[in-house]
Amino acid sequence: MNRDILSKIEQEQMISREELEELLMTTDQELIEELYRRARATAGKYYGKEIYLRGLIEFTNYCKNNCYYCGIRCGNAKAVRYRLTEEEILSCCDNGYRLGLRTFVMQGGEDAYYTDECMCGIIKNIKDRYPDCAITLSLGERSESSFKKMFDAGADRYLLRHETADYAHYSRLHPSEMSAENRQKCLFGLKKIGYQVGSGFMVGSPYQTSEHLVLDLRFLQRLKPEMIGIGPYITHKDTPFSHYPSGTLKKTLRLIAILRLMFPTALIPSTTALGTINPRGRELGLCAGANVVMPNLSPVSKRKLYDLYDNKICTGEEAAECCECLKRRIESVGYKVVCGRGDAAGFKTVRM
Ligand code: SAM
Ligand code: FES
Repeated sequence: MNRDILSKIEQEQMISREELEELLMTTDQELIEELYRRARATAGKYYGKEIYLRGLIEFTNYCKNNCYYCGIRCGNAKAVRYRLTEEEILSCCDNGYRLGLRTFVMQGGEDAYYTDECMCGIIKNIKDRYPDCAITLSLGERSESSFKKMFDAGADRYLLRHETADYAHYSRLHPSEMSAENRQKCLFGLKKIGYQVGSGFMVGSPYQTSEHLVLDLRFLQRLKPEMIGIGPYITHKDTPFSHYPSGTLKKTLRLIAILRLMFPTALIPSTTALGTINPRGRELGLCAGANVVMPNLSPVSKRKLYDLYDNKICTGEEAAECCECLKRRIESVGYKVVCGRGDAAGFKTVRM
C-alpha cells in the first residue's frame, strides 16, 4: 500500500474496505500528510481559500424521538425544554445578517408544535426580510408533502444525516419506531423536490465498524448530496450510551479528507463536535479539506439547553463573539471567510 491509493481514490472516487482501513489505521505520517495535502488541493480547486459561514439557529429542543446517543431525546427527563418564537427566530436572523451571514440553518428536534403552516410562515417571513439569504432546514423526518410545502415557501437546503447506512447498525442506535429505510427515503424525496441536500454520520458511534463506514460512503455515492456533515460521536451522560467512549479526532479528520477526495465539490462543515473533542478541531477540519463553519446564532440564554452531548462548546458567547472567534480561527490556518449564500459549486435551485 502506498501513495497510489490516494491517486486511485481521486480518480475512481471509490474506496475498498481494505483501503479505508489502511488509511484509518496507518501510522505512516507522510501518507497522512499527503492525504490532507491532496484533500486541501481538491477543496482549493473548487472553492479556493474561501470558507462559507452558516448561522445556526437551534430553535427547539423538544423531540419526539428517543435516539440512544442524543442528549435531547424525549426520554431524557433531565433536559430542560425550550422553543423559540417566530420573533425570536427573526431576531437571530437580524443579528446574523448584521454579522454578514447569508445562510440561516434552522435546526431542532422533531417537534410537532412547528406545523407545516407554522414553518412555512417563518420561512416566508425570513425570505421577505432577507431575499438574498439561503434557508437550510434540519428538522428531522417529515412527510414528503411537508418537505414540498416548505420548499415552495422558500427553503433552499435540508440537512438530514443518514446516521448509518447499515440497517442493523441503525437499529442498535435507535428505538424500533425509527428506521434507516424511512430516513433514506426522506433523503431521496428531498433531492427529488429540489433541495440542496446534506447527509452524513457520526464517527465512532457505538458498534460502528469499518464495514459500516464503507457502506456509509457507498450510500453517499448513491445519494450524491451537496453537503456532507460528519463529526465525532460524543458521549452524553444522561443517555443509554453514557458508557460508550466518544469518537476520535484522528479518525474524523481522516474521514473528512477521504470524503473530500471522493466528493470534490461537496460542502463539508468542520463541526462544533470536532471543536468539542479538541480545542483546535475545527481548524484541523479545514486543513483536512472541510470548507464550511457554522457559528451559533441561538440566544445565549438557550444555548446550554441544546445539549446534544457533554461539554458542547460555544454555549456562552454572543453571536458576534462567536463569529469573530471563528473568523480568527479560519484566518489562523490561511483561509478567509466569505460573505454570501455559498451554494454548492454548480447547483441551481429550480422551483416549479
Ligand atoms: N432532529 C434533526 C435530525 O434528526 O436530523 C436535527 C437535530 S439532530 C440533534 C442533529 C444531529 O446531531 C444528528 O443528525 C446527529 O448526528 C447529531 N448528534 C446527536 N447526538 C449526538 C452526539 N451524542 N454526538 C455527536 N453528534 C450527535
Ligand atoms: Fe431528536 Fe436528538 S433525539 S434531536
